[in-house]
Amino acid sequence: MLFRKALSGVLIASALGSSSAATLDPNDKAALGAAAHQATANLVGLYNAEEKAGLTAEGSFDQSKFSWFASGIVWGQVLSNSLVFGDKSQDATASKAIGVATFGIGDLLGGPMRSFSEKYRGKWNDDLGWWAFAMMTAVDAYGKDAQIAGGAKFLDAATLTFNQMHEQYDMTCGGGIYWSRNREAEKDADYKSTISNTQFVQLGARLAVATGNQTFLDLASQTYNWLKTSGLVTADWKVVDGVHTTTCGVVNPRAWGYNAGVMLGAAAYMYKATQQQSYLDDAKNILNVAVASFTQNNVVYEPGCPYGQCGRETPMGKPQLIKGMAQLYTVSNDPAVKAQIQTVIDTTLASAVKNCDADWWCSSEWTGTMAPTKEAYDQAGTAELLVAAAMVHGATPPAGTTAGGLGSAAPTSSGPAGSSGSSGSTAASPKVNSASASNAGILGTFIGALMGGLVGW
Ligand SMILES: *[C@@H]1O[C@H](CO)[C@@H](O)[C@H](O)[C@H]1NC(C)=O
Repeated sequence: MLFRKALSGVLIASALGSSSAATLDPNDKAALGAAAHQATANLVGLYNAEEKAGLTAEGSFDQSKFSWFASGIVWGQVLSNSLVFGDKSQDATASKAIGVATFGIGDLLGGPMRSFSEKYRGKWNDDLGWWAFAMMTAVDAYGKDAQIAGGAKFLDAATLTFNQMHEQYDMTCGGGIYWSRNREAEKDADYKSTISNTQFVQLGARLAVATGNQTFLDLASQTYNWLKTSGLVTADWKVVDGVHTTTCGVVNPRAWGYNAGVMLGAAAYMYKATQQQSYLDDAKNILNVAVASFTQNNVVYEPGCPYGQCGRETPMGKPQLIKGMAQLYTVSNDPAVKAQIQTVIDTTLASAVKNCDADWWCSSEWTGTMAPTKEAYDQAGTAELLVAAAMVHGATPPAGTTAGGLGSAAPTSSGPAGSSGSSGSTAASPKVNSASASNAGILGTFIGALMGGLVGW
């Protein structure tokens, strides 16, 4: 649930010492690989330190500072480094975190604690979708039988997530998947968000490519068509935010870059699964409107949110537009589309890199000048941007980074929830009300994982 429930952003602007800034020629494959590796290693290093301090839970960075869904995005980016240019150095950490997030049973909703996850732990359909993308990237990098550390197969977990999302499809407003999984929620229970639907299409197309199973494609295609007929992808190719089912036909016109980005990726994978040119034609139209809406002088930005002022999660948005563009680049057969995407990615990268230091600590600000920090929200976006650049230019993994893997597939001795690293966490008191606390009691073995973290929204 990007942005809607976000805390207000904190502005950390200051002059950047020019002597320590990073430099990068994206055509230098060794330099690009080294930069993507180091930016990602810094990011995962933050997770490792938080895990040591007992601040991680549910496979996520410290949730008092970093939302659970955003960690799903990070693990997807980490595994993309592996898939795109063979840097496997952080894959075992990603695999272990996904093992924790899926409770050692390959289920993001935690099996018997499903209803609790949906109602009290903020597991909305779009939150699940980001994690499922990470699982599919592991499948693409390691194959269909690849196992999550400590648990099930990545492919089975992604399939289960797809099916769980599809349970939330109904014919109100002609189709579509709800945003929240809780139809009794006080707020937005009736909202069909664009993001949960674009994710579902992309996930289905990726599963179809990986397995050849037509069911995935049929369901993805049904939802793809609904995105257009519902008006969430407008007649003039804007990708808007969603629709309340109490007012079908009256869409929420707010446009975010990540909605367009995941739609671009969805169209790219639909093309990959079907070879139908119409998906690339749609994508070209969506790309043109997105570039007009979300770039300034070819640098991707979030209109109306200068310096990330639309909440703490805002920095996770624009990298997803970049990622969708890179996904389209890899399947496009149109030189003009490819050139347009390369221009945006290269220009954005050149601007963003000015806010990174020589050790590849970066800032979430890509347009103006802002000092880097050692915070995950500042690091994650530029790490994603670097791997997107590697999708366009190619990159060489630094020496010693290609030998890693997904880590041990053997179950951990402490049981399904035991590897969460959350025991003894005193970082934040969990926001559970009495109803949820009593549910948790019933749910026995999962309590450690539940109480370890904080869902701030
Ligand atoms: C294809 O996927 C669907 C949805 O997960 C599943 O129900 C079906 O059994 C699969 N078919 C085959 C042949 O594997």
